[in-house]
Amino acid sequence: MADVVQYSNAPEEQLDCLYLAVAEKARPLERLVLPARDRQAIAKVVDELGVRGTDGEVLVTTSPVKTFRRIACFGVGKLSSFTVHSLRKLLRRVVEQAGRNREYQIALALPFLPQDVDPAEARVVTLAELALSDYRFDRFRSRPDEATKVDGVHVIRLESETAEQLDAMLAQSRRVDELVRLARDLGNRPGNDLTPTSFAAEIAEMFKGSAVRVTEMGVKELEKDGLRAIVAVGRGSVEEPRLVRLEYRAKKPRAAIVLVGKGVTFDSGGISIKPAADMADMKHDMCGAAAVVAAMRAVAQDEPPLKVVGLVPLVENLPSGSALKPGDIITMNNGATVEIDNTDAEGRLILADTMAYAARFNPDVMVDLATLTGACKVALGHELAGMFANDDALAAQLESLGRRTGDRVWRLPLLPAYKELLRSEWADLKNSAGAKGSLPASAAFLQHFVPEGVKWAHLDIAGVAHLPKGHNGLPAGATGFGVRLLLALIAEAAAKA
Ligand code: BES
Ligand code: MN
Ligand code: ZN
Repeated sequence: MADVVQYSNAPEEQLDCLYLAVAEKARPLERLVLPARDRQAIAKVVDELGVRGTDGEVLVTTSPVKTFRRIACFGVGKLSSFTVHSLRKLLRRVVEQAGRNREYQIALALPFLPQDVDPAEARVVTLAELALSDYRFDRFRSRPDEATKVDGVHVIRLESETAEQLDAMLAQSRRVDELVRLARDLGNRPGNDLTPTSFAAEIAEMFKGSAVRVTEMGVKELEKDGLRAIVAVGRGSVEEPRLVRLEYRAKKPRAAIVLVGKGVTFDSGGISIKPAADMADMKHDMCGAAAVVAAMRAVAQDEPPLKVVGLVPLVENLPSGSALKPGDIITMNNGATVEIDNTDAEGRLILADTMAYAARFNPDVMVDLATLTGACKVALGHELAGMFANDDALAAQLESLGRRTGDRVWRLPLLPAYKELLRSEWADLKNSAGAKGSLPASAAFLQHFVPEGVKWAHLDIAGVAHLPKGHNGLPAGATGFGVRLLLALIAEAAAKA
């Protein structure tokens, strides 16, 4: 990971290249803080290059000032259509080119902001995207690709910000970077590496000595506390299930928030087995849990005036002689009986048990994140998460925080009629209604297990938490979706008296 720091006008050594992002019909150096002499000389060569700022344009020249070796201008097209997606694509182009050219120390001038995020947050979003732009998952490469490694990125200050403000925003973005990387790394680890037990052990290790208390519940504890759905789903695998509780409580908490994250370390579908094609993607079926763990890391660092509890049920969903079967009936944590229609609808089973169990923490607000349905990916693509909520204010808050952080969510209706889809001949409800209405049915199922009086939102992150290939400037694999949204939610709750 490259060091992202503020550019100093008197750097000790020459930087390899100044990368200058240029929009169409904009004056390239406008708003940038550069020494007057450098500015004039750079303006002259940029002008001579004939930079137009069209999208994809790349023009490189020798630098006329000794602080840089080269100057590279990257066109981004019209400013009005410059979004977080264009920003990410631009930053990837920059770090990739710098890597190819063996440039280890570069300066970056980004004199404009993405137009699709709240202007007050857009600079931090930009800096965080910059810090993340060289993310790669190379844990399992015997020879990580050294060629594309930039060591330092020196960010040029804008006239609208003071040096102190830029430093503060850089610090904020470094923290976002660290937490999103954590969630991506967890998300990308394969099922044989990150199992329920190894994941649980790593969480315990991660929070050792912090203000967050971690409790690992194994099969014995799960059975004792009536979390039978977690045990039932886990029974098909030799990997034992776990429920990990991450509890944090300030002295006089202003509110209590429970975060639940789906942690299926691998989802084969179980007896209702999935087709072979793309099944490997199901190693990512724990991205909800990863986002919750990352958010709890921030809680451990900040110790906000709140009660925050993270709950991550961890299972591996496999077929075997001891696996859960279609037709089986299980009694959930809140006493409701569920007929198993499809063992591939396992996420809602472990979440439902966990959400009912969450009643003991007396939450005001409960948010769950889950790679829950293929249908959500079909409905919304890779652009936004689907959201179901039983409270309009919470839904509006998450929509607005989504626009601010880039982790965007789109609300879908929780109609009482969807419960009809889950009517069972033999039990209180069944866990799936087949293809028809499979997205709203999944939310209607979960709603059945929300403790009385709790404001709840369910985020289906199946389309956004991991990508089959690079998209919108993000690399293939886990995206860390939800981390920034949860950080913002916690910060807003902490700020409210
Ligand atoms: N983990 C999957 C959902 C999923 C699919 C996430 C593709 C990301 C990409 C989930 O457990 C699942 O299998 N859901 C089923 C539900 C169905 C059986 C009612 C689905 O969506 O097909
Ligand atoms: Mn499944
Ligand atoms: Zn699943």
